[in-house]
Amino acid sequence: MSIKKETTLLEDLNQALAAETLAAFRYLYFSRIASGINSPPLSEMFEEMAEGEWKHAAMVMRRIVQLGGIPVSKPSEWEKRSFHPYNDPPRRGNDLKLIIRDSLKLERSAVEFYQRLAGKTRDSDLITYRLAVDAMVEEAEEEQKLASLLD
Ligand SMILES: [Fe+2]
Ligand SMILES: [Fe+2]
Repeated sequence: MSIKKETTLLEDLNQALAAETLAAFRYLYFSRIASGINSPPLSEMFEEMAEGEWKHAAMVMRRIVQLGGIPVSKPSEWEKRSFHPYNDPPRRGNDLKLIIRDSLKLERSAVEFYQRLAGKTRDSDLITYRLAVDAMVEEAEEEQKLASLLD
């Protein structure tokens, strides 16, 4: 792998680390602010999703270190580096549809990101390729779960 390629890969992985960390925070936030008649199952779902994103952050961070890179370490960098733009979470905990739509955008963005990463690494780095595919499958399941709530 050329140095240039590797630099780009580490940048991609740091984008993922930043985005996953923010996603974990966001879903935990939603699990705590959701209110209204349908909120208990939704809170539970978001709490589980927060744990899932945190695991993604952990596996991405491990891969960055394995590749000799430095995981993004400053919270102020998370927002700048994330593959998905960060906006303030919806404030109204009773607008469950808004919270779901917001999360759906994040999941779609994650599926696209990991699909691109898988495409980039398929022929050059099978470990990162597998990480990307595993994460993509999980993001797609979450995307589906969220989309089905809006039917
Ligand atoms: Fe994730
Ligand atoms: Fe996700």
